[in-house]
Amino acid sequence: MNSRGPTHDDISEYANKLWRQAKDNCEREMPPQFYWEEAQSSMVPQAALALASETGTIFVPTPDKEWPFSYKKGNTPIFFGAITGSIFSIKHRGSTKSFELCNIDDFDSMLHELLKFIQNREICVHIRWMIRRDMPEVMQIENESFEFPWLEEDFVRCLRQRNCIGMVAEHDELVVGFMIYELHKDRLHVLNFAVGKQWRRRGVGTTMINKLIGKLSCQRRSKLLLEVRETNLDALMFFKNNGFIAISILKDFYDDSPEDAYLMQRKYAGEAAVLC
Ligand SMILES: CC(C)(COP(=O)(O)OP(=O)(O)OC[C@H]1O[C@@H](n2cnc3c(N)ncnc32)[C@H](O)[C@@H]1OP(=O)(O)O)[C@@H](O)C(=O)NCCC(=O)NCCS
Repeated sequence: MNSRGPTHDDISEYANKLWRQAKDNCEREMPPQFYWEEAQSSMVPQAALALASETGTIFVPTPDKEWPFSYKKGNTPIFFGAITGSIFSIKHRGSTKSFELCNIDDFDSMLHELLKFIQNREICVHIRWMIRRDMPEVMQIENESFEFPWLEEDFVRCLRQRNCIGMVAEHDELVVGFMIYELHKDRLHVLNFAVGKQWRRRGVGTTMINKLIGKLSCQRRSKLLLEVRETNLDALMFFKNNGFIAISILKDFYDDSPEDAYLMQRKYAGEAAVLC
């Protein structure tokens, strides 16, 4: 193998070696077909390139110590293989989709399918004010999201406050997420925030949080604050990935459990902030 990676001959030799081994085990009737293109080659299927740019993948198929080689995103293999009979799988937003490559001519169409899978995962939501009629769907999301859920009367009591606002994320006329926040003079404080289980890792939470971030300004409410239970790793990851930082630990914050909370903050970061 040269320093730029394996050559066509390297892969060919390796594939045939594998086939000979497999044949010895009587597992295959036919020699495997294999696919190999160098990253820069104009023959790299368009879908593979689109897939690579979509996922931020560095499109460099590198043979690992073991077959099959992998296309990597950082150190995470995104999909594997290029030999018939091998399984290609792509991981995206916590889900995995797999294909068995039976015929090498299907390689390009398989990549198209993988690309479609990625593009379809992000769903488009409309954020609007919460209304009374949303309560059953909101309660369902609340109950499946938290060990110590709010009761319906907690929502009602909270939303009666003049400075308290409820919003829902709607997709295809279904409520897929909601948030409750308070308006203060200098900040927005999120009291409750959840996305329905089946809709997670599809960008809904990010769309909701971006809606709130869009309400910040340097003159007025310049930060977004919220508490996260120390054991709620999903939420900690989510808020961290949306630019929040933990600014303090609130000891024994909850009545219902002995957990601490992290107070997390996202500051206004628009261009005008430079002038503030
Ligand atoms: C936290 C929560 C709101 C996230 O909503 P979501 O719609 O799934 O979030 P998104 O799809 O916008 O995720 C954006 C990014 O956040 C991170 N993230 C979200 N959930 C994650 C998880 N479970 N593990 C690791 N990272 C996660 C990822 O980086 C994700 O991007 P990726 O999917 O491309 O990797 C949702 O998991 C939820 O409702 N949890 C239960 C209720 C809750 O804990 N609310 C917060 C109370 S403070």
